[in-house]
Amino acid sequence: MNDSVHTQALPRPSGRGLVRKLGWLVLVTAVGIGVHLSLQEIIQSGDAEKRQGPDLHKLEQLEAVDPARAAKVRAGMLKYESICRLCHHRSGIGGKFTPPIAGKTEEGMQTLLKLYRSGVQMGPLTNLMAPWAAELSDEDISNLAAYVATL
Ligand code: HEC
Repeated sequence: MNDSVHTQALPRPSGRGLVRKLGWLVLVTAVGIGVHLSLQEIIQSGDAEKRQGPDLHKLEQLEAVDPARAAKVRAGMLKYESICRLCHHRSGIGGKFTPPIAGKTEEGMQTLLKLYRSGVQMGPLTNLMAPWAAELSDEDISNLAAYVATL
């Protein structure tokens, strides 16, 4: 009696076990899809402007009329894109805590960068800016100034 109840009862737990396994599979898949979608959302929700590259069109125009000058601007652009853009925005408009630099004259940029490089205290956030300027050679500064003047 006890045995027959046991054998009859056997298929049920294993059936439930399968349902439970499928349940896990569905849950894991759902969580996976959920994570994927929310990551996509986070990646895409950012400011589209910020993800754009530099305005290469301007550079191409310059290349056509003044290749030597364009080479200098391009070198400055590569440096700007690899370091400065992080804080001053791709178009030089600055960020929440960083000043705009677009619109500065070439000489003005050179003077400012050399001042930061010298280690002198400028504004309240000099400590954020100075280490980057310290890495720049005279040539970097002159290329960067040429590029920023085109922004
Ligand atoms: C980590 C963020 C950061 C990076 C990277 C950075 N800067 Fe800055 N920059 C700042 C901050 C913050 C200030 C304001 C500092 C102060 O208060 O003196 C500043 C100030 C400046 C100024 C002076 C602006 C003004 O109106 O006085 C110039 C010019 C400048 N940065 C150019 C650059 C260039 C060129 C690069 C790339 C080589 C660069 N910065 C990289 C954060 C940054």
